Amino acid sequence: MTEPTLDVAQIAWPTQDQPLLTERLVLRPHRPDDLEDLLRFHADPDVVRWTPWVVKDHAATEEFLAKRTTMTRWHEPGDWLVLAVQRRDDGRVVGEVLLKWEGPGQAEVGYALASDQHGQGLAREAVAGLFRYAFDVLGVHRVVAIIVDANDASTRLAEQVGMTREAHLVEAVWFKGAWASEYVYAIRAEQFRQSPDLG
Ligand SMILES: CC(C)(COP(=O)(O)OP(=O)(O)OC[C@H]1O[C@@H](n2cnc3c(N)ncnc32)[C@H](O)[C@@H]1OP(=O)(O)O)[C@@H](O)C(=O)NCCC(=O)NCCS
Repeated sequence: MTEPTLDVAQIAWPTQDQPLLTERLVLRPHRPDDLEDLLRFHADPDVVRWTPWVVKDHAATEEFLAKRTTMTRWHEPGDWLVLAVQRRDDGRVVGEVLLKWEGPGQAEVGYALASDQHGQGLAREAVAGLFRYAFDVLGVHRVVAIIVDANDASTRLAEQVGMTREAHLVEAVWFKGAWASEYVYAIRAEQFRQSPDLG
């Protein structure tokens, strides 16, 4: 077996004109006019409690967004692809999904959704859409999610998109002022394709 390679120059990366589409959502690169929508969840303590970033004000979110508008494709391992999660019905950006290139065939997923949008299956739909792209277009072999073990909503979501818990890393990270333990969840392309309601 040869090591998988990815010719990033040949990939059809999602664009404003050719986004990823799911039943209720459009997944596309961020735009400067996403700012007000982004603020609604980037400044929400209930969401930020679990994310790597801290609660941000308008100026800090604007700066963050400017960086995110450039994270539209992978160039080299370590890069994140960041996609705004936009509702098809009212056009509001309600969240984001992220995919990091870890190395040959390996990726890490991240996600966040505005609090008032929870409980509708939108995160599941967005992550499943991102997985479809990762496995079918980017040729990824395995995607991991690293989740603070107390984050029940996120572990539920990981399981709903077909990921399995592979490890529990005890007090493995300093997170928001304390040692936190993390679960490692993962899914391989083959598992995803065997889930008829996902792949
Ligand atoms: C993690 C997070 C995205 C999950 O959001 P969520 O709303 O729970 O997830 P979904 O959008 O997939 O919705 C699933 C829920 O909707 C319900 N639901 C309603 N309609 C549904 C549908 N059509 N399809 C699937 N689920 C549906 C499900 O039963 C489930 O309910 P439950 O949570 O009571 O089990 C959200 O909690 C969040 O943004 N948290 C903060 C950021 C964060 O933790 N990021 C991850 C760091 S590792």
